Amino acid sequence: MQDDVRPIGVFDSGLGGLTVARAIASGLPHESITYLGDTKRCPYGPRDQSEVRRFVAQVGAWLNGRDVKAVVIACNTATAAALDLLQVALPVPVIGVVEPGARAAVRATRTRRVGVLATQGTVRSGSYEAAIHALDAGVRVFSHPAPRFVELVEGLLIGGEHLHEDWMANPEIFDTPPIRNIAREETEALADMGIDTVVLGCTHFPLLARPIRAVLGDDVRIVSSAEETCRELRESLEYRGDLAPDDQVPDYRFATTSDDITSFAVAGNFIFGHALESIERVDLDRVEPLPDYRNTDAGA
Ligand code: DGL
Repeated sequence: MQDDVRPIGVFDSGLGGLTVARAIASGLPHESITYLGDTKRCPYGPRDQSEVRRFVAQVGAWLNGRDVKAVVIACNTATAAALDLLQVALPVPVIGVVEPGARAAVRATRTRRVGVLATQGTVRSGSYEAAIHALDAGVRVFSHPAPRFVELVEGLLIGGEHLHEDWMANPEIFDTPPIRNIAREETEALADMGIDTVVLGCTHFPLLARPIRAVLGDDVRIVSSAEETCRELRESLEYRGDLAPDDQVPDYRFATTSDDITSFAVAGNFIFGHALESIERVDLDRVEPLPDYRNTDAGA
């Protein structure tokens, strides 16, 4: 289909995926976006994979009902747990953030020693190791969980602290002494590994890039998946002839599972860089989940 006006579906466990939605809005300015943050059940990181798969099956069904032309899983934990589920169950292309993050890291490293900061779920899954080694089996990968970062970011955002017109453009806002202390505790294990690149393997972490840099030092390159994911999305849409028309004014719609729509709107505005004008509350327990082929196969 040419000039496809349908939106891109994007989701995360909460607000962090808006860092990816922002990159999509900037790199593909004519594309409409429908974003869902499963804020009520955030964080996904400490949960086991089968639970995250169940959540993703619900989110995928909801997005499918919104007639999206592609889905971006803007959450590393959900990508690690259930990219395959959505790719099998949905009739549209599904792009995760782990492979793009791995590509960015492999491209950036010179010493071929790469750190990964991610949630426990992503680290446990070994997805980054697999994705990086699929590109270059010679890269040494040092993965480290930073579980407190997700709660820190969601808490700072929803708590309404540090309100500013644009958090992503002003990363120093989150570079305070208490946050640096947490960053030190969460990342110093990587400081002695001789890495020259660290991939932020959680879409919440770009907001903490400054304090992470303060711990790891200026010589360590910090990469994340947002821009690379957008590039992959563009290629996929182009290849299929599914790009939006050049004169399309994008329509951005948001949904959250949280009861507190106002906090989601306020915080989201400062990450996405545009006002979140259209927000609805969604009850995913009312949605019939997509089938998980793994369960079907097991039951067959
Ligand atoms: N933003 C999600 C990710 O990229 C994780 C946050 C969570 O633990 O829910 O992994």
